[in-house]
Amino acid sequence: MKNTKILFVCLGNICRSPAAEGVMKKIASGLPIEIQSAGTAGYHIGELPDTRMRSHARKRGYDLVSHAQQFDPSKHFEQFDHIVAMDGSNLRDLKAMDRKKQYQHKLSLMTDYSLTMDVNEVPDPYYGGPEGFEHVLDILEDSCRGLLKQLRP
Ligand code: 4NP
Repeated sequence: MKNTKILFVCLGNICRSPAAEGVMKKIASGLPIEIQSAGTAGYHIGELPDTRMRSHARKRGYDLVSHAQQFDPSKHFEQFDHIVAMDGSNLRDLKAMDRKKQYQHKLSLMTDYSLTMDVNEVPDPYYGGPEGFEHVLDILEDSCRGLLKQLRP
């Protein structure tokens, strides 16, 4: 398996995409897969993931320790092989940032890889309750397994 670079992208890079990064790092550990996450917005640059997301993730064995970064079209499109958006709005923003339409083949939606759940996006849990964070983790665990299966049939 050749070295593969994956970037997970959400809006703030403090809830969904760092959780996707943590889940994928755990299930792909030992494999030649490099994983990072980023946000389309820059509101939270440098911050650790949201404390609620960190605590829900920790209960499932994922330690979320990344610091938020903003998606940078001048380097990330080139640097990563797969750029995986959490929802349709993130995907639209990424598509629009690819002005010359050179990197559209690298873009996908997290739930495209879902194996067992009938979902079409990873919903933003930021303004909701604890069940939203659990739902995000359920979707991410299912979709990350599917993504890994595609990379490593
Ligand atoms: P995320 O969640 O995109 O999953 O990191 C959000 C975090 C912060 C904000 C929005 C979404 N915010 O507006 O600050």
